[in-house]
Amino acid sequence: MPELESPQRQTPDSLMLFGFWYRALPSELVSRGRLKRAMLLEIPLVVGRDRQGRVFALRDSCPHRGMPLSCGRFDGQQLECSYHGWKFDAHSGQCRLIPSLTAEQTLKVDRIYAGSYACEEHDDFIWVFIPEPGPSGAGFTQREDAPVPAPRVPTFSEKYKLAHLTADLPCSVDHGIIGLMDPAHGPFVHQAWWWRSRGSIHEKQKNFEPIPNGFRMSAHTPSSNSAPYKLLRLYADAEAITTTIDFVLPNLRSEIIQAGKYWFASLTTVTPITRSRCRIDVVAAWNIFRWLPFGPELLKYVFAKFVEQDRQTMEKQSEGLRTNPHLMLIDDADRPAKWYFQLKAAYLESRRSGEEMRHPMPGPVTLKWRS
Ligand code: FES
Ligand SMILES: [Fe+2]
Repeated sequence: MPELESPQRQTPDSLMLFGFWYRALPSELVSRGRLKRAMLLEIPLVVGRDRQGRVFALRDSCPHRGMPLSCGRFDGQQLECSYHGWKFDAHSGQCRLIPSLTAEQTLKVDRIYAGSYACEEHDDFIWVFIPEPGPSGAGFTQREDAPVPAPRVPTFSEKYKLAHLTADLPCSVDHGIIGLMDPAHGPFVHQAWWWRSRGSIHEKQKNFEPIPNGFRMSAHTPSSNSAPYKLLRLYADAEAITTTIDFVLPNLRSEIIQAGKYWFASLTTVTPITRSRCRIDVVAAWNIFRWLPFGPELLKYVFAKFVEQDRQTMEKQSEGLRTNPHLMLIDDADRPAKWYFQLKAAYLESRRSGEEMRHPMPGPVTLKWRS
C-alpha cells in the first residue's frame, strides 16, 4: 500500500542550511585582478582573484555605508570602495585605509572588517564556506577558518578529464534537490530516441543505506538509468560495472561508476541562491574515452540535454507552485525526498540542541518503484 504523508510535514520549506561549503562560480568566470558578483543563500558576494591567482570572497557590501564593494576598484590586492575610498584587504577583509581620517584622529582602522568568507578552488569551481549567521546587527570581525575542506569530485587515477555544466533553476533549493533524486520522472522528462521511452518502464529495486549526513544507493550493477552507462558497456561486461550514488547534506550528489580500471565520477550540487532560486552545477571526471576524440563532447552533450530537460520541467513546475498548492510524497518513489527533508530537520535540530544528529534511517532499506 503506498503511504501518503502529510504534505505539511513533507513539502519544501525553503530553509537554507548554513555552515556548509557551496559552489559560488565556475573558475573560468573569474580572471586575475577581476571582481565578479555572486549570491549564495541570499548573501551578496564579491568574488575575485588576486595577482597571484588566489581566489577570495567578501560580502558585497561596504561595512561603512553598504556600497557594493564590487562597484569599487581592485588593484589585485586590495579593494577600494567607490563611495568614500575605504580600502580592504581582499583575503581577510581587514580595513587598510580610511582616506577621510586626519593625522590626529585615532580610529583604529585595522579593527574594521568587511565580511570575508573562506574560499577554495577545486575542479573548475570556486567554493565559499557560508557560516552560521552571527547575531543580527553585529558587524564583521576577523573570520574563522572553515572546519572542513571543500568537497571534491572523487577521482581514481592520476590522469583524468574534467568537465562541468551549470543551469539556473527557477525554484527553491528543496525542489531542485528532490527533483535531482527523483527516480520516477525519468521516462517522462528524459525521453530521447537514443535513450529510452515510456515503453521501457519496468520495476526496479535498489538498496539504500545511511551514511553520515546522507544516504547511499549501494554499489550495484546499474540499470540503464545513468548517462555514461551505455558508453561504459563498450569497456566492460555489464556485470563488471558498478555504480554508487550518494546524497549528502546540504546539497551534494555524487555518482561513481567503475568498470575495472575505468571510471566515471560526478559531483552535482544544487545551490540556494535565494529562497526561490537555485542553480545546478554538474562536474564530471573520468578516465574513459581519453583516446576517443569525441568522448568528452558526447558526454557533455548528453549531460547538457538531461540538465536542460530538468530545467524546463522545473520552470513549468514553478508556475504550478506559485499558488502554494497542496503536495504529497509517496512511497517508495519519493522516499529519498522524504529522507532529504528528514535529514535536513535532524541537522537543524542537532544545531539547535547541540546534541549529535539523529539519522532518520534506522539501517539499510530496499526501495521498489517502476521507472
Ligand atoms: S560606503 Fe564604502 S567607503 Fe563609505
Ligand atoms: Fe532529471
